[in-house]
Amino acid sequence: MVPTMGALHDGHVSLMDRARALGDHVVVSIFVNPLQFGDASDLAKYPSDLDGDLDICRRAGVDLVWAPSIDHMYPDGFATRVSVTGVSEPFEGRHRPGHFDGVATVVTKLFAVIRPDGAVFGAKDFQQVAVIKRLSADLGLPVGIDVAPTVRDHDGLALSSRNARLDPASRSRALAIPRSLTAVEKAWRSGVRHTDELETILAAELLGLDVDYASVVDPQTLSTRRDDHAPAVALVAATVGSVRLIDNTVLD
Ligand code: PAF
Repeated sequence: MVPTMGALHDGHVSLMDRARALGDHVVVSIFVNPLQFGDASDLAKYPSDLDGDLDICRRAGVDLVWAPSIDHMYPDGFATRVSVTGVSEPFEGRHRPGHFDGVATVVTKLFAVIRPDGAVFGAKDFQQVAVIKRLSADLGLPVGIDVAPTVRDHDGLALSSRNARLDPASRSRALAIPRSLTAVEKAWRSGVRHTDELETILAAELLGLDVDYASVVDPQTLSTRRDDHAPAVALVAATVGSVRLIDNTVLD
């Protein structure tokens, strides 16, 4: 299964290709989940193009698309929330309160309805993957969680449905995000291991953007690294124009 919110792009197609390689049948769900949007205007701005999405799924050889209505997913009286503590709390959790409860609730419901053997998620949403892995392990969900690498445009920007809302000037400013990640990867390769130094390198490229966070943390716990020998992930969230973008790189 590939859970999506539609507005499909090549990043989603890479998830579908991966799902096809892993399973006998591929199901894609398309559902813009209102529970994971704190801000009604962000939900209203979320792009949607069901016909275009269905074409993409057809071309990618998807066997079944499930695109339920909001009433179908959350009928009157729906009163359940699934909440993952810990990894959901910093970063996106702090900046988008309730977001991960919405994600955990909808993913649990999508898994319960479709009952896939496995589900493929994109590495761009690093914290989402951490939350879903925790959810799946804690509830003993019989669904293998697979993570596909981030797909980038020719200029390095990670593919995201939100990119469609970047005007050319904002898009070129947004390139500071992949540049910051490349800079930190380069520093890591040249032996820099200290969190403060890595974060300084990250931040230097992001000057001028409205940055929510640019942090280097432990990839398992998303908290402070134990020491300089510990693995690391660099996480960035910034708003460019009116578009909030996230990206990351695992340093290993
Ligand atoms: O990553 C997404 O598109 C969404 O958060 C997901 C996993 C489909 C849940 O709505």
